[in-house]
Amino acid sequence: MCGIVGYVGPQQAQNVVIEGLRRLEYRGYDSAGIAIVSDQAIQTRKKAGKLANLEAELVDSPISPSHTGIGHTRWATHGAPNDVNAHPHVSEDGTIAVIHNGIIENFAMLRDKLIAEGVTLRSQTDTEVVAHLLSKQMKSTPGLADALREVCQVLTGAFTLVVVHADTPDVVVAARRNSPLVVGRGDGENFLASDVAAFIAHTRNAIELGQDQIVEITPNSIEVTDFYGKPAEFTEYEVTWDAAAAEKGGFDLFMLKEIAEQPKAVADTLLGRIDKSGKVTLADLGLDDAFLKTIDKIIITACGTAYHSGLIAKYAIEHWTRIPCEVELASEFRYRDPILTPTTLVVAISQSGETMDTLMAMRYAREQGAKVLAICNSNGSTIPRESDAVIYTHAGPEIAVASTKAFLTQIVACYLFAMYLAQTRGTGYGKDAATVALELSDMPSMIDLVLDTTEGVKAIAKELIDKQSVLFLGRSVGFPVALEGALKLKELAYMHAEGFAAGELKHGPIALIEDGIPVFVVVPPQDDELHDKIVSNIQEVRARGALTIVLAEEGDESINEFSDHIIRLPKCPALMQPLVATVPLQIFSCEMATVKGYDVDQPRNLAKSVTVE
Ligand code: F6R
Repeated sequence: MCGIVGYVGPQQAQNVVIEGLRRLEYRGYDSAGIAIVSDQAIQTRKKAGKLANLEAELVDSPISPSHTGIGHTRWATHGAPNDVNAHPHVSEDGTIAVIHNGIIENFAMLRDKLIAEGVTLRSQTDTEVVAHLLSKQMKSTPGLADALREVCQVLTGAFTLVVVHADTPDVVVAARRNSPLVVGRGDGENFLASDVAAFIAHTRNAIELGQDQIVEITPNSIEVTDFYGKPAEFTEYEVTWDAAAAEKGGFDLFMLKEIAEQPKAVADTLLGRIDKSGKVTLADLGLDDAFLKTIDKIIITACGTAYHSGLIAKYAIEHWTRIPCEVELASEFRYRDPILTPTTLVVAISQSGETMDTLMAMRYAREQGAKVLAICNSNGSTIPRESDAVIYTHAGPEIAVASTKAFLTQIVACYLFAMYLAQTRGTGYGKDAATVALELSDMPSMIDLVLDTTEGVKAIAKELIDKQSVLFLGRSVGFPVALEGALKLKELAYMHAEGFAAGELKHGPIALIEDGIPVFVVVPPQDDELHDKIVSNIQEVRARGALTIVLAEEGDESINEFSDHIIRLPKCPALMQPLVATVPLQIFSCEMATVKGYDVDQPRNLAKSVTVE
């Protein structure tokens, strides 16, 4: 959460920083602020609310031209989202400006100490203490990077800090512990950001920073050291996507664009990894066959939508590999003393690769001796970097806060891994490998078919606009699809929505059914053993007054008489059905939020990358 940008170079810093913040606004939009260094002084502007408010402020109250600047877009943790708590925060003498992503856990103690020393704090944030600590430190340690290094030693928690000083106009310094920070290497200019999206329009050359590192950038140099001043190694890489990928590309919303990109995202995730015979090649996996043969338990851990993809993956993993697989919310995982051994494989699924709960869960698993495989969409992010192995999803940048294409590609990456594992261990699945390969490679065109028929779904959203509550039912892999449908509706349309396993209805949730309540039901293919059971569930809710919206495959006429609305899905095997059944539910929520007049790409209270626990 929180987006951070730093720039030094010949361009106008304000323009570069604001443009970077625009691309990072998905990380938080409670407030935005900028500090530039000009004429041996720091000038700041900051405003509560979205970036547009800051831009308006810059028109009303312009800042001087400058070639060095930092900017911040906030997702509030400490202190209300108002102008005062917006970053940057400056030292009492106004010479230092600081922006921060993360949480400084010992800030209360540090703040009390500063107050006792006579420092006046203006905001309620944890960040402001850093500006004052730095100012104090610079009296004995004059260099900005050296002073920041000393200050970092006394901070606990997670932080990316970016600082500028009035006396060093061509320098931006940053520190990183447990929060994301990447460096963009330009030609005569350099960048710092939470995410490469901020500088991709200027350079594709990026540098991953490691844990507990300090970086100092000037227009022509990048110096990376550890918290003790020792030169540190870093990895440079080239970002494979370009600025256009992080733009709306003619769509009104990033979410609509990302929904439309799903066929390609799935195809790209499969590309080069599976052949017609079903042989899976995971070149960059990084787990040797000997280990894969010893695995006796798999635990998938993730949050939100990524967790739902894990719930779906469990069915395929157990079916194809016969290895027991548990799926656990990352925020719960390390607090319950899970049983982990050297033959346990923990799979951490994360679009951003920065989700703090997932990061902490995977670190805990490694400390307990388990190996960790990351399934991730963000190259070079912390979770894959700290894992034993990685399978990247190739969804491209996902900007809308609500996850869509990442979800489908996470399912695909998990399936590929399950197939690879089964292939390596020589399970009975082998005889089905070619069939599964064919089914998977058909999925991009199946998703395309769903995307061609979205008008009906949009009409349903308009019809249901005044409903208070919406329920989603599914069984087997359709159950996590129901959970995902409900999550999307909650986060985008702010409606009460619940997903249930349809078989559980009679154990309680059926009491919620009343006249007119909309119930979406994901029906498995007709040849699935659960098909008839869920058709009975549809009848049960309809008999009690529910308005049924049934997602069923082409040609399934058995549901017609019990459905108020039917959303047709292309025929595909049960395990593949989540890849098509999720799409209308995404479109439904997106449309519902649109007709209600809500901000689809930036729903209230949320941020895309949740880098706090
Ligand atoms: C929902 C959504 C969130 C994320 C969750 C995990 O639409 O986007 O639930 O799925 O915060 O994020 P990652 O995958 O980045 O770890």
